[in-house]
Amino acid sequence: MTTQLEQPPETDWLRYGPYGGAMRSRLLDWMWHVRYWPKHSGREHCRDIRRQHRERSGNVNGYLLQPPPQWVPYFGNQHRAVPYVLELLRGLGAQSGDSLFEANAGSHAVSWNANKELGMVTLANDMSFYSIAIGESLQGTPAYLTTAATGAALLDEFGGQIPDKGDPSPASVEKWSAFLQTEATTNLNRRNHHVTRAGMFEMADQVEGRFAYCNFDWPHREGTPRSDRMHAIHVLNQRLGDPGAVESAAPSGRQILDDVLKFLDMAVPRFEFVILSNQSSNYPPPEVLETHLQACGHVPIVARRLVIPNGLTDDRGSDPFFTEYQYVFKGRRG
Ligand SMILES: C[S@@+](CC[C@H](N)C(=O)[O-])C[C@H]1O[C@@H](n2cnc3c(N)ncnc32)[C@H](O)[C@@H]1O
Repeated sequence: MTTQLEQPPETDWLRYGPYGGAMRSRLLDWMWHVRYWPKHSGREHCRDIRRQHRERSGNVNGYLLQPPPQWVPYFGNQHRAVPYVLELLRGLGAQSGDSLFEANAGSHAVSWNANKELGMVTLANDMSFYSIAIGESLQGTPAYLTTAATGAALLDEFGGQIPDKGDPSPASVEKWSAFLQTEATTNLNRRNHHVTRAGMFEMADQVEGRFAYCNFDWPHREGTPRSDRMHAIHVLNQRLGDPGAVESAAPSGRQILDDVLKFLDMAVPRFEFVILSNQSSNYPPPEVLETHLQACGHVPIVARRLVIPNGLTDDRGSDPFFTEYQYVFKGRRG
């Protein structure tokens, strides 16, 4: 069912600070949409959902052979997995007008494309200023366009070694500005893409809906925190003029397991499906993550793997293949 919805008012959370009135108003917009979602009657059995998923998507595991579509540069960008995430959502019965909350949205690759391609009502949350600037530019807010394009150009040119000084080339800023503008103008559903800046647990405690999607700032494969990346994001945000730039600590291997559990404990009662994404370049590897989650009562109803030749990824390790892991947990809503 598609419902014609009134456009939410333009708000600028920066005027009020991250937890002020404007953010509350965005949350209210979001909750307002929630009331219009189609209700899914009856409790479906996990087995039936798995079967329906296989029938609808025709696929359980995948192998990516084509180069991924271009997307705005971001650490841990999931653009290469986007078609596979959309396929997963379709397999779970996602329809136009259904809601998707993306925690740790980063480049917005997942939520924006679900909004654009599937007509979903999306809420993307991240604490990084660069991510907010991307989201606002995608929505078509001109005030953020240069900030987002400059961030993209800096990452494109310097990768994880963002210098304190030195501008990116104007051609690169122009390229990313044109990319974001094209995305904004070609997505007729963009008013249903909402952006908030907050801590992920604070948000996970306040929203509810049909789908929740989360990728984490996972530690390095051997378990050490990705402090290098956290620092690079901090320098980038400072360079972009972030009014509230604070360097957060990157999670350790033990911390990330606690964080994933905390997120699932919060999201499972509030959503119909909770999707978790991890990659083979990160800690924990599947044998640790899956065992840990199962021991704590979170058993996925769908577990998929997308294998990607390493030449097609931007996080190249020594392994010739890179694997994207997707887990779906049945929530209690709906
Ligand atoms: C690996 S990136 C996500 C990339 C994203 N999936 C994409 O496709 O671009 C992780 C993101 O999580 C955000 N993040 C990490 N911890 C957070 C927290 N506690 N609250 C909010 N955002 C957080 C970081 O700012 C970063 O943008």
